[in-house]
Amino acid sequence: MTTTEFISKIEARLRPFITTLPPLWLVRIYSNSRRIFIRHLVNDLPAEPVRIPEANRIKLWDIEFGCGLFNAAGMFKYGEGYELCAMQGAGAYLAGTTTSKKRNGNRKDTLHPFIAYPNSGAASNWMGLPNKGHSIVAGRLAKIERKPLCPVGISVSADPGESNYDTLKNLIAGMNQYYLAGVDFIELNESCPNVPGHKQCDTNNKSCLEDELVDRLEYISNNFLSKRGRNLPVIIKLSTGTAPELIPAIIDILTTLKFDGVNFGNTSTKYEYHKSSITDEEKWLFDFFVKRYGGGISGRPLKESSLNLSKTAVEYLKSQSISNEFHVIRTGGVESRADLKESSDAGVQMNQWFTGYFDNFSRFGHRLYSELFNSHVL
Ligand SMILES: Cc1cc2nc3c(=O)[nH]c(=O)nc-3n(C[C@H](O)[C@H](O)[C@H](O)COP(=O)(O)O)c2cc1C
Repeated sequence: MTTTEFISKIEARLRPFITTLPPLWLVRIYSNSRRIFIRHLVNDLPAEPVRIPEANRIKLWDIEFGCGLFNAAGMFKYGEGYELCAMQGAGAYLAGTTTSKKRNGNRKDTLHPFIAYPNSGAASNWMGLPNKGHSIVAGRLAKIERKPLCPVGISVSADPGESNYDTLKNLIAGMNQYYLAGVDFIELNESCPNVPGHKQCDTNNKSCLEDELVDRLEYISNNFLSKRGRNLPVIIKLSTGTAPELIPAIIDILTTLKFDGVNFGNTSTKYEYHKSSITDEEKWLFDFFVKRYGGGISGRPLKESSLNLSKTAVEYLKSQSISNEFHVIRTGGVESRADLKESSDAGVQMNQWFTGYFDNFSRFGHRLYSELFNSHVL
């Protein structure tokens, strides 16, 4: 057992009991330990690469993925952790989100606030995309020693809160840096609830499909997608709070503009709706976090929305004749074989996870992917 496997096991046993501590202490403990844990995790590799049976391999956009699951954006914000993911048998590796300008993210109480609700399989964060910028992370990704079946992806965003021509130019410049760094796919993050300018695409907010977002997507299509000199799929990540009735319009725009996929999705701010999925003993902690920071909810409460949105998108795609290869990716509450099976039954081949990764790591350590994929093929 490696050190982080051991720490994670102990911590998982303690977690359900420490929810009785004062809430600000808990936010402090979780925010700091998350950061420190990831820093150690990326250097604490399994002794041997974990093998995932060949039958789980997937080819999307002519790229081979070792299996249909990999880390969601935000876990390896600085371009660290590729070797860890490849050795654990992840289907791919996703770095970022990065922006053109270096960002310190949101700070309150001297923290990038994050909290877990262990009994609910959920978490909240109000980090606000801290990152070192496209150029530094592109430089790191260019130096990665690639392993078979673990393609490299990068999550990017335009500089939040800025909506001028220079912002878009800088975003394209960043995407070109990643193009030159040799990444295999790009995910455009349009849905972080913790920064200005990103939208939820709910029915109260139809504007997210008009004006700014559509302009930005058109600009990217004209200035990046149509100029790609090699295979480099670009997918858009939207919120799990997206209204299902907007899906046809979303897919129509994305496919017309020649994007390659959509990911449902990001954390949610539908606090009242998701509160019912938080256990009674953790509701007060949830209320504390929402009141003090706001933030986005992740984990089990998103399971149903991510599945419904992905399923609706796949069904709509099937009803259309679309010339380019376009895939739906599911993120939100994915944590078990049953979830992967539900995705697969809904026609979703690729999943990402964040909150569920840590819970599975505490149980299975570096064998977390093989536990989900070994004994059956989806
Ligand atoms: C601490 C934390 C940081 C995150 N940072 C990012 C980010 O930088 N970019 C992004 O697109 N999503 C980010 N997310 C959202 C996740 O990528 C994912 O969409 C969300 O957590 C739902 O998946 P899950 O239920 O498996 O956690 C973050 C989530 C958490 C909990």
